[in-house]
Amino acid sequence: MTLTGHSSRRSALRSTTATRHAELEAVVGALRSRASYVRYLRGMHAFRAPYEAALSGLDWPALSGDWRPTFIAQSLNDDLDDMGAAPLAAARPSEPVRAAVSDLSGAFGVLYVLEGSSLGARLLYSEAKKLGLTATFGARHLARQSAGLETWRGFQALLEAADGIEMPAAVSAANAAFEAAKLSFLKANDDAV
Ligand code: HEM
Repeated sequence: MTLTGHSSRRSALRSTTATRHAELEAVVGALRSRASYVRYLRGMHAFRAPYEAALSGLDWPALSGDWRPTFIAQSLNDDLDDMGAAPLAAARPSEPVRAAVSDLSGAFGVLYVLEGSSLGARLLYSEAKKLGLTATFGARHLARQSAGLETWRGFQALLEAADGIEMPAAVSAANAAFEAAKLSFLKANDDAV
């Protein structure tokens, strides 16, 4: 099965979330200084930690064979620590987050957002390197996300092959995740003012 054809679930998710992705990029902005990078780390941790906590409680073997997502909340905290910023406590997943990931279609929509962000992470990693950050200092999570695309490719294969995915539910969970990310980044920007 082709993964790049117009009828793939991945292209449906990409086209139906494109507006929200563009909004999110605008909110995150360019990582031109260490201060803006720390704001980005805070926003990313606040967004991801609850989703990662909810996802780590899933019945993975039944869902996905050997495949597992890339969890980066701990690396984000290690990066904050490197930057001399206080690590963040993981917020408990809210009820909508729990509900989204406990439904198969919703879990795939959420995973599309979390795993797909490894594509953009390659770009962010090159910006972070210009700030003097590396895989062992400050940009650990970006190094992990952009290390290889096997996890993303594995996810795409599962997404296309899985039985019982209802695309409207997957799209709505993906858009809700993008919205949650936007709110987390806006809050991180506000907190820093
Ligand atoms: C300034 C911040 C960001 C930039 C510059 C950025 C940039 C990009 C770029 C260039 C791609 C496409 C890469 C390619 O096709 O090879 C991409 C893909 C993607 N990004 Fe971002 N991104 C950012 C933040 C985020 C965040 C915070 C998330 C998640 C909350 C995210 C989720 C995604 C997803 C799901 C895709 C995959 C789209 C697809 O199906 O092709 N991005 N991003």
